[in-house]
Amino acid sequence: MTSPIEVLVPDIGGFKDVNVIDVLVKNGQVVEKETPLVTIETEKAAMDVPSPIAGKIAEVKLKIGDKLSEGSLILLLEPAVAATPADKPAEAASPAESKAATKAEPSAEELNAAPSSSTAASVSSPTGASTAHRAATSDDTAPREARSGATRSAAVDENAFSKAHASPSVRKFAREVGADLGGISGTSVKGRITQEDVKAHVKNLLGAASSAATGSGLPRVPVVDFALFGPVEVKALSRIQKISGTRLQASWLNLPHVTQHEDADISDLEAARGALKDKAAQAGVRLTPLVFIIKACILALKEFPRFNSSLDESGQNLVFKNYFNIGFAADTPNGLVVPVIPNADRLDNFEIARTLASLSEKARAGKLKAGEMQGGSFTISSLGGIGGTYFTPIINAPEVAILGVSKASQKPVYERGGFLPRLMLPLSLSYDHRVIDGAEAARFVVFLAKTLGDVKALL
Ligand code: COA
Repeated sequence: MTSPIEVLVPDIGGFKDVNVIDVLVKNGQVVEKETPLVTIETEKAAMDVPSPIAGKIAEVKLKIGDKLSEGSLILLLEPAVAATPADKPAEAASPAESKAATKAEPSAEELNAAPSSSTAASVSSPTGASTAHRAATSDDTAPREARSGATRSAAVDENAFSKAHASPSVRKFAREVGADLGGISGTSVKGRITQEDVKAHVKNLLGAASSAATGSGLPRVPVVDFALFGPVEVKALSRIQKISGTRLQASWLNLPHVTQHEDADISDLEAARGALKDKAAQAGVRLTPLVFIIKACILALKEFPRFNSSLDESGQNLVFKNYFNIGFAADTPNGLVVPVIPNADRLDNFEIARTLASLSEKARAGKLKAGEMQGGSFTISSLGGIGGTYFTPIINAPEVAILGVSKASQKPVYERGGFLPRLMLPLSLSYDHRVIDGAEAARFVVFLAKTLGDVKALL
């Protein structure tokens, strides 16, 4: 085995205590001659220090944030081939040779021509004698760039590319993949662009190109390698989540949503519900507020039939449904499902409660049949049993409206010259603005709230 040699910082033009802004290699890594080892940054520019010879990294001796000057130890390197006489301490380069071999302060333009801006490291034997290794000269640049396969993309803004804050190795990489550095925001210290930033940018462009190819033309959200920032765990979405996710996204993208909020005073309704509890228990049903909300919605849908309609495929006609099939969002261990109570207008409260309970149970057990989730004309999403106030539910397209229900709470309501504690139920109605005007939506929620306050209408 060849014994390790020390790789030292070469002549960097007299700069002292320059920052290490990137360590590009790891212990045990095999490197070629000219493989960038670290990136350092002076007040004026960043530069890579490439390996002076091929070999295997025995031990990296610095970390990001360290300060270096000429002669500082970078790492120990096991040479790939036995040291040649030129590498022996006795043949260490003179300071003059070292100076001639390195370019101390590359300009932005020079940095742009990636390999030429590299500053060669010097190596020394463990005894400390150093040997300067020739750095690339500008003459070498063109053929080497060509050899590395780097191409200049027609879309690259050369001016912005040259001004971008990135190390030579990142510039070289960007050249190789045809990325325009000028259009990338850096995530590292002082906005410096890293190789990961370039990769993420390219992935983004590829993603955008593929969505354009599929016709969606949607800009993509950034692709982030979360593992770079801490430990992560990957779990697949459930089958239901995948299906409902696509449907929710389709609705969100295709329907112009507006959400109208209102509070319904259900104090009297709660009193009536309480009074009915024993009778309901005898009948084997649980009368939750949702039962009465379904009933009130049916009355509102009869009053405002547009909310029980859908646009046809052409988008030019409204299809009014003369049935009231009420869907309700059910939270299950596998995700969100929407069972449908068919012809809910023909059911009394106990029958609605019974159907609600049996469909919810089936939903939670994953036993709903496809037919039990089809044919809905209006949907209710009730989070009242959980908590929270208002939210903005996504319409279950091709329906045109959905009612979100939150948890009822006691609120002071000003009535007849004073504040009274009333049980108020927060309602959130999202509607398709292509079909329903804002004024109509406001009338719908006001009617609905009034109906929920009218016990006689609901019993
Ligand atoms: N305000 C205050 N309390 C409420 C309420 C409201 N709006 N709605 C329900 N409650 C109470 C109920 O009365 C019940 O209490 P009780 O046992 O003392 O009577 C408790 O909350 C639990 O009710 P729940 O079992 O959830 O019955 P439900 O009929 O209200 O709802 C489902 C049935 C299936 C809709 C419901 O269980 C569910 O899954 N909700 C989540 C829907 C969802 O995920 N929506 C989001 C889609 S984006």
